[in-house]
Amino acid sequence: MGICQLAVYNEHSMIESNEMEEKPVERVVKKTEREEDKGLEVTLRPRGLDEFIGQADLKANLQILIDAAKGREEPLDHVLLYGNPGLGKTTLSHIIANEMNAQVRITSGPALEHVGDLAAILSNLQRGDVLFIDEIHRMNRTIEEVLYPAMEDFALDLVVGKGPSARTLRLGLEPFTIIGATTRLSLLSSPLRDRFGVTYHLNFYNEDEIGQIIKRSAQILNIPIDDNTSSTIATRSRRTPRIANRLLKRVRDYAQVRHDGTLDSDIANAALDMLAIDPLGLDATDRLVLTAIVDLFNGGPVGLTTLAAATQQEASTIEEIYEPFLLQLGFIERTPRGRMATKRAREHLGLNRQTGDLPMSQ
Ligand SMILES: Nc1ncnc2c1ncn2[C@@H]1O[C@H](COP(=O)(O)OP(=O)(O)OP(=O)(O)O)[C@@H](O)[C@H]1O
Ligand SMILES: [Mg+2]
Repeated sequence: MGICQLAVYNEHSMIESNEMEEKPVERVVKKTEREEDKGLEVTLRPRGLDEFIGQADLKANLQILIDAAKGREEPLDHVLLYGNPGLGKTTLSHIIANEMNAQVRITSGPALEHVGDLAAILSNLQRGDVLFIDEIHRMNRTIEEVLYPAMEDFALDLVVGKGPSARTLRLGLEPFTIIGATTRLSLLSSPLRDRFGVTYHLNFYNEDEIGQIIKRSAQILNIPIDDNTSSTIATRSRRTPRIANRLLKRVRDYAQVRHDGTLDSDIANAALDMLAIDPLGLDATDRLVLTAIVDLFNGGPVGLTTLAAATQQEASTIEEIYEPFLLQLGFIERTPRGRMATKRAREHLGLNRQTGDLPMSQ
């Protein structure tokens, strides 16, 4: 366990040096580069913990972790971030690196195809570096095993030779920090999960926080916006910062093309209606999923695969993108026999019928 074959490693590192040119498995963001970005690039991504809105408990815990590590002049313990798409995992990982004044190396589970990929990245890490592994749940199990001794003992275990003469060599690594991000904590193996010093869950934001995020982004993008308009957009943003920023930009487009560019609440409502985003932030696919459960499957329970086939969506898309927010709204329930639509969902859709009243699907 946790041992990679040196033979394989060497072979791959040769192939990989060619492959790396075509398809990089990591990207390095240097401290100086980030400094330049600050001046040059207008970005919506908060850079410091103080700019990061919401997630108060997480921020308080993280601040202690950072201050303690800084006080001891040690690299931060490994951090695992999990939460739905667009809630700020990547943003937070950069903030953590900024706060630690560390260099970040960025890779992702699916990009690490060979054991040698990871071994090469790890052996090049400098003291205090942050290695950000996005979609860490999609990392191959054999590659994952290389991480175990690396995370625990800052070591790479290599097997030299073959057969009876094979022996294990342990290569020391510089102390570093892994920040893993995932939307699917349950898909992470427990040995990997256990090696993180802390695991933080990003929750959906409340509407007030989303309103603040919209106002902050509007200010960066030079869009004058009042409280009324920001809260109109906030209510339709699925409590997710990425969606809030996207809707703000779409409302700005609409105001510019259909009006004189000034935003107000009516204009925001009209723009979002035109995008088929309803007052709760549900889009056409959310409504399709709900209507399918109610109309085709008599309110449920219906299995995920059947639901995916009926709505022509991928099961993973429904599970990772649509379902979490519908669950938040209390519109669907997950039962051992499948998904069920709630009374609330039927009321929202205007399908105000009891489950038993509905005709069965063909
Ligand atoms: N707390 C926050 N305050 C302000 N802006 C935020 C916050 N969280 C996220 N954002 C904004 O939302 C966008 C999406 O965040 P981010 O890319 O970090 O999400 P993610 O969790 O990594 O998503 P994915 O799972 O899809 O990778 C960022 O560009 C950032 O501008
Ligand atoms: Mg991300």
